[in-house]
Amino acid sequence: MSISGSARLAGVMGWPIAHSRSPRIHGYWLQEYGIDGAYVPLAIQPEDLADSFRMLPRLGFRGWNITLPHKEAALRLVDTATAAAERIGAVNTVTVQPDGGLSGDNSDAFGFTAHLNQSAPGWPSDRPAVVLGAGGAARAICFALLEAGVPEVRIANRTQARAESLAAANGRQARAVPWDARTEALADAGLLVNTTSLGMRGQPPLPMELTALPADAVVNDIVYVPLQTPLLATAAARGLRTVDGLGMLLHQARPGFSRWFGREPMVTETLYSTIAKDIAP
Ligand code: ATR
Repeated sequence: MSISGSARLAGVMGWPIAHSRSPRIHGYWLQEYGIDGAYVPLAIQPEDLADSFRMLPRLGFRGWNITLPHKEAALRLVDTATAAAERIGAVNTVTVQPDGGLSGDNSDAFGFTAHLNQSAPGWPSDRPAVVLGAGGAARAICFALLEAGVPEVRIANRTQARAESLAAANGRQARAVPWDARTEALADAGLLVNTTSLGMRGQPPLPMELTALPADAVVNDIVYVPLQTPLLATAAARGLRTVDGLGMLLHQARPGFSRWFGREPMVTETLYSTIAKDIAP
């Protein structure tokens, strides 16, 4: 669709940015809803980040997403931040307010929960959850799980110290478990989430025995290249419900789109298969 001189503008900042799927996701919705707007990739080097935050509103941008490596730095550049962004320690969605101020949010936790609720309705949120990994994605997911009312989050990470510091930041309901004890941690769990890069194309599969997981537990892998990771294949073979990583990516885009373009977008089968084809043509 062509755009007019008064088109609404948004984009995604990262370095590098060419791999980002966000322009396709937002572009799909803009077209689907016939909105006069554009969402563009913005290749911004770290030393230019602060200047970009000042200039984009002057260029008429209504807001933008932030991806690697800028999410933590963005938290220091916004005027206000949501509780999610503060707790996760990172901003992925910036919105220009009517007074010109910048508000920062983190929609990764929202995206994770929205996709989990949609793909595995009634998932056992009244039992412990096991989270593998302790990077930025794990921070967002711990926050999401505690918000969802999970009674205990068990964090296992190859580097134990990172698991401990993530657990400490999340209070008494979060605790670190040794990487080598990750299998035993599954015994009474309702959910297993992989946030490590293991299982991603080009990486070794995640070494994980699932026999200890109760039959009604859900296995969620946030890796989305490939869509069906070895972990999800093992879980499916055991008859467990599985949740893939693509939906989190699609749902995390919703809050920014509705703020900048004025329409609540839907994550549909067609969007899912369009982006899935883009990932693995
Ligand atoms: P993100 O911010 O995307 O979550 P990250 O901070 O690079 O990414 O974290 C990647 C996660 O994958 C980490 O938890 C990392 O473990 P370490 O903290 O020990 O580095 C985990 N990871 C990467 N390669 C791994 C491997 N071969 N075995 C186990 N864990 C691995």
